[in-house]
Amino acid sequence: MNDVELPVRQAPDSVFLYGFWYRALPAKQVHSKELQKVVLLESPLVLGRARSGAPFALYDACPHRGMPLSYGWFDGQQVECSYHGWKFDARTGQCQLIPSLTSDQNLKVDRIYAGSYGCEDRDEYVWVFVPEPKPQAAGFTKPVQPGFPAPQIPKFSDNYKSAYLTAEMPVSVDHGIIGLMDPAHGPFVHQAWWWRSRHSIHEKKKDFEPIPNGFRMSAHMPSSNSAPYKLLRLYADAESITTTIDFVLPNLRYETIRAGKYWFSSLTTVTPIRRDHCRIDVVACWNIFRWIPFGAGLLKFVFAKFVEQDRRTMERQSEGLKQNPHLMLIDDADRPARWYFQLKAAHLEAKRSGGEMKHPMTGPVTLKWRS
Ligand code: FES
Ligand SMILES: [Fe+2]
Repeated sequence: MNDVELPVRQAPDSVFLYGFWYRALPAKQVHSKELQKVVLLESPLVLGRARSGAPFALYDACPHRGMPLSYGWFDGQQVECSYHGWKFDARTGQCQLIPSLTSDQNLKVDRIYAGSYGCEDRDEYVWVFVPEPKPQAAGFTKPVQPGFPAPQIPKFSDNYKSAYLTAEMPVSVDHGIIGLMDPAHGPFVHQAWWWRSRHSIHEKKKDFEPIPNGFRMSAHMPSSNSAPYKLLRLYADAESITTTIDFVLPNLRYETIRAGKYWFSSLTTVTPIRRDHCRIDVVACWNIFRWIPFGAGLLKFVFAKFVEQDRRTMERQSEGLKQNPHLMLIDDADRPARWYFQLKAAHLEAKRSGGEMKHPMTGPVTLKWRS
């Protein structure tokens, strides 16, 4: 990139992107015995699992007088509000009973809805489709049908293992995401004797290309600071290793590593909870370490270390962000962060105008940085 280019002052806008699937909770935490409260994009939700096994999500405010439905009761099929006992079908949100009505009062109960959300199990998590406009507890909103399925982790064999990790961070989703794609913090944040030190900084060159709604760091021999790579290199033939990292709106980071018949695939998401609060969830699937007894544990240990280092960094960063400082995006190391903001802006503009989304990248780009 141009040497005389000035740093760009850029403050994250923290605008939420509606009309996408978001990870809500680990699937294990959603069961038929109990209702769970979750906040996504500042909307309060109540999650549960019907007797049939299907997860559901409702707006957590009763359309009658706003009592959170999460204080109510669930019998495996209907959610009953704790205030006046209205009952709602858990999957559709449709009202099915108003106990105070007498037999000659013919209010059309089934025209009333507690806002319900598209909800699916996918790779260890329950995902919720957050539409625009938000289904308010306005009372008559029928469930929104998501036009596309929840994102899925690419898998390359029938047998595989999987694991997940989650961490909350007191920063906006934008800081969470640009922190995730930022190549320059590695040597400083992710130091460990068994991994690397800041003295290992060297120049890197990576190829990027546009993909729908995002960009790809093209398949290549990974450098030694990709998380599972050091483990993988011990067990597989290093010559054949390729890796691809995709970022896709609104918050998806796919990493795929393949070495012959072995593969490792992960999807990391940064989910907006509130304006200044986000959550990072990593789910990994692999068939690589199946034959090593400590493989899964070791992998989880490495990932947990990384996520904790990022979490602690962003917790500290949030102290500075409270002062509303000027922020910069500089040169190639921060180019992916700029693409993220440009993609977001292009998406919102396409939505506003009803036209095609104009991708900020016109073709492949090679970026250089030291890390
Ligand atoms: S507030 Fe829920 S039934 Fe009245
Ligand atoms: Fe990191």
